[in-house]
Amino acid sequence: MESTTIRRTEIAEVLKSETFDKKVLVKGWVRAFRANRFIALNDGSTFNNIQIVVDFENLDEAILKKIGFHACIAVEGQLVESQGSGQKMEIAAEKIEILGESNPDDYPLQPKKQTMEFLREKAHFRMRTNTFSAVFRIRHAIAYAVHKYYNDNGYYYMHTPIITGSDAEGAGEMFRVTTFEPNNAPKREDGAVDFKQDFFGKATNLTVSGQLQAEIAALALGKVYTFGPTFRAENSNTSRHLAEFWMIEPEVAFNDIFDNMDLAEDFSKYLINYILDNYIDDLTFLDKRIQDLEKNMKKEDRRAMGLIETLRFVVDNDFERITHAEAIQLIKRSKPYKKGRFEFEVDEKSDLQAEHERWLVEKHFKKPVIVRDYPKGIKAFYMRMNDDNETVAAMDVLFPGIGEVIGGSQREERLNILEARMAEMDVDAHELDWYMQLRRFGGCPHAGFGLGFERMVLFITGMNNIRDVIPFPRTPGNAEF
Ligand code: 4AD
Ligand code: MG
Repeated sequence: MESTTIRRTEIAEVLKSETFDKKVLVKGWVRAFRANRFIALNDGSTFNNIQIVVDFENLDEAILKKIGFHACIAVEGQLVESQGSGQKMEIAAEKIEILGESNPDDYPLQPKKQTMEFLREKAHFRMRTNTFSAVFRIRHAIAYAVHKYYNDNGYYYMHTPIITGSDAEGAGEMFRVTTFEPNNAPKREDGAVDFKQDFFGKATNLTVSGQLQAEIAALALGKVYTFGPTFRAENSNTSRHLAEFWMIEPEVAFNDIFDNMDLAEDFSKYLINYILDNYIDDLTFLDKRIQDLEKNMKKEDRRAMGLIETLRFVVDNDFERITHAEAIQLIKRSKPYKKGRFEFEVDEKSDLQAEHERWLVEKHFKKPVIVRDYPKGIKAFYMRMNDDNETVAAMDVLFPGIGEVIGGSQREERLNILEARMAEMDVDAHELDWYMQLRRFGGCPHAGFGLGFERMVLFITGMNNIRDVIPFPRTPGNAEF
């Protein structure tokens, strides 16, 4: 770096300036370079670029040639009121230094629309687009709002383990953690792999949920939440599933299923409000982006409402609350069901498929819906049995355009019923002995849920694919970067 007398200012700070005709130093990446004269520079501190005006006379030709798309540069110059329209101020460049070249010959990407799929393969480029920098600023802000919400409401952040011996969901969708060589694992006499000799002295895997440990914490500290990475080896190649995602799991002693629904609704609305209140520039850009994308679509394929309008609608209205049995009745009586337009049939014992959830939320109620009291056969072993002995105190919160964003339940606190359920569902009671102990020593009613962080980011940013709201997506067949 050439010796310079002034310190660097972040572009967000420069753009807030009320006074002009002072010297500034900014550093950032070239978002556009027009007419060999106007550079749009962005340093990530804000959605907005600062315009740099290059005065030919003062600048070395050789340097000018290196100011390619996405080159990293330092610019020193006078901050002046802009003559042009579109910006209040600009920097009249006096000195430009190339910090990182970006030769257009080696780097053929032009400032034009690229497909989301293409961008996923170019990590450095992707993060510097308007769309992704907006998405990742909002992702950060939602994470901050999660901690703020729980801290302000007296919850404790609990770090639950990433490596665990248990399968919290009992669904067997786990990634194994081992130090054994794949082809050379020690075997027992019966030929099975001898995990007693493995690093932890037992078979271990990456966690699918921190809930079971959070329950222990809740029955000591009262109100806790987890917020950590979660891993699922389910082979779901959809726009809603990741193999590595983040989940927020509040767990509260003495809450029942209704308290749990209230918390889920209040928390969801808080997150959305936080972004509406603090990130309107980024939201406005994303809203316009969707409108542009949908311009050439048929009316029925377009979203019913714009992004910001949708977010405001969700925070201003109560979520609908129905039982699973009521949902089934509504679906069976619906036009598309009667006309055979759904792929799957439903009855009192069946799970709702994505197509049913979306009909309920988008066509019927036209707002988020909380479905509760699911049939016991399709839900996890830890959910509390209802008095009918057929349904459990489970709840799913379904969002427009996404489907399930939250899944939770009141927990089974009665040891004998829990044991019977585990036996019925073939859950390893031995491995979960510590979990059952909680029912023996000062157990109490309690409830909680898991909010899929990326699904909430997907909803708030209006992006179409969950892979585009996580910096480095992991999905079946893909663990690049
Ligand atoms: O419904 P799930 O499986 O619930 C649990 O794991 C409970 N232990 C939570 C609890 O009660 N503490 O997952 C919770 C949420 C889902 O509603 C969904 O939003 C998200 O996690 N989720 C996924 N998100 C992205 N990719 C996947 N493969 C996901 N699987 C679940
Ligand atoms: Mg679920």
